[in-house]
Amino acid sequence: MTGFSAEWLALREPVDHASVDARLREKVAGLFASRDVLRLTDLGSGSGSSLRGLAPHLPDRQVWRLVDYDRALLDHARGALSEWADEVIDAGAELQLRRGHKHITVGFLQADLSQGVAASVTADADIVTSAAFFDLVSEPWIARFTEALRARALPLYAMLTYNGQETWSPPHAADATMLAAFHADQHRDKGSGPAAGPEAAGLLAANLLSRGFELYEAESPWRLGATEARLTEALAEGSASAVAATGAVPHEDVENWRVARRSAENCIIGHRDLLALPGV
Ligand SMILES: C[S@@+](CC[C@H](N)C(=O)[O-])C[C@H]1O[C@@H](n2cnc3c(N)ncnc32)[C@H](O)[C@@H]1O
Repeated sequence: MTGFSAEWLALREPVDHASVDARLREKVAGLFASRDVLRLTDLGSGSGSSLRGLAPHLPDRQVWRLVDYDRALLDHARGALSEWADEVIDAGAELQLRRGHKHITVGFLQADLSQGVAASVTADADIVTSAAFFDLVSEPWIARFTEALRARALPLYAMLTYNGQETWSPPHAADATMLAAFHADQHRDKGSGPAAGPEAAGLLAANLLSRGFELYEAESPWRLGATEARLTEALAEGSASAVAATGAVPHEDVENWRVARRSAENCIIGHRDLLALPGV
């Protein structure tokens, strides 16, 4: 398990929603504007952030399948979505929600995606979505996944894939060493082989292109300043702890960096959004 906490996901959600490239999102909206019902499968759904961010831009009737291996996060998603909705019409195994004009059915699937993309994951979907997920899986997994998309002619909208670019201000002497150690740690195997980490966005694009998909890409960096100080602090803590656990950087350097970065004035964390449409 990668162990993402609901608190961390809640902290990043408003920044994620503000960072997603609006033009690419509008392109997704335009593709499906004439649909009566749109069916989406969201991979690594966490607390349901993708649904809350995208639903206002999509047709009035939506059916979402949220897939995650973390039972606690799926349960958290149920609660968070029920609070977000104006009305919970039916809280059976599937949630039936109304938010403004949107009528949204939400199904929850607990599945370890590293073990394969079972047909049930993508069955009936018109599009597969994800946010901040592909850095966790391996290159062979990405190859098998994109092949499954090709076989079913399914579009993919992958938001906020970490691309390894970080700029912290003011600069710190240990920035480059810490980033290199953090990236090395990101390649740790999370179940499907060495994880793609900061190479994920490039690997995803190359695999989709080689399978005939048409790609649209855009940068979607976090730009964190004074308003996002809590997220900056949590990010610095997370990166420093990950590096400390590797033992690759002297303890004193990690701690100096941790203290300086917890109160960084601002930082930019690079992400990439990608929309892939199957070839005809
Ligand atoms: C960085 S979080 C992003 C969550 C959510 N998409 C968001 O943007 O808030 C990555 C998510 O992927 C899930 N995840 C990681 N590896 C997984 C796997 N092998 N199978 C299913 N879910 C996985 C985690 O439990 C977590 O919810």
